[in-house]
Amino acid sequence: KRIAIFASGRGSNAEALYQAMQAGEVNGEVVVVVSDYSTAAVLAKAQAWGVPSVAVERKAYGSKEDFEQALLDAIAPYTPDVVVLAGFMRLLGPTFINAYPNKIVNIHPALLPSFPGLHAQRQAVEAGVKVSGCTVHFVDYGMDSGPIIMQTAVPVMADDTEDSLAARILPHEHTTYKRALALLCDDKLEIINRIVHVKP
Ligand code: GRF
Repeated sequence: KRIAIFASGRGSNAEALYQAMQAGEVNGEVVVVVSDYSTAAVLAKAQAWGVPSVAVERKAYGSKEDFEQALLDAIAPYTPDVVVLAGFMRLLGPTFINAYPNKIVNIHPALLPSFPGLHAQRQAVEAGVKVSGCTVHFVDYGMDSGPIIMQTAVPVMADDTEDSLAARILPHEHTTYKRALALLCDDKLEIINRIVHVKP
């Protein structure tokens, strides 16, 4: 499968997925890397991989729709089959989503539906939960609300801060995303009534 990766910052999930594809653990190839920030470290990573990259800055567009159309125009030449959001901090709306139905996935650093949105790890620490983790899901029109593909539970320690919990979850994001994307690339996922089933 041809994969477009969208990231807003560091890109450690993008890196993990790229390496997994290089290692043959995921039947995909990264055909383009997109960021909404021209200074994002993930763009330098893409350059190092020799993968085309493009920055589509939100502030360059008046409306959300124009921004999303610009994102579509940026990836169209690479004809991606799947769009992978990996630390992409924008909510995508119908303009973008309708162009890639059930082909957009995201990773969230909490066990959805708990703690959607920003600072999920902080939400978990403040809620006093004993277990949190990460979720890979299909993207729908809501925020962190699409059909769940895979989750990994991660213990929360009594003295955890947002940062210590984020650090403990992050490597599990990498492995969980690799496994989820491998299933997607092998056409092993089907959605029935918003529940994701893995084909045998
Ligand atoms: C990850 O924790 C991801 O779950 C969240 O933002 C972070 C992105 O990290 N959406 P990276 O850019 O993949 O290193």
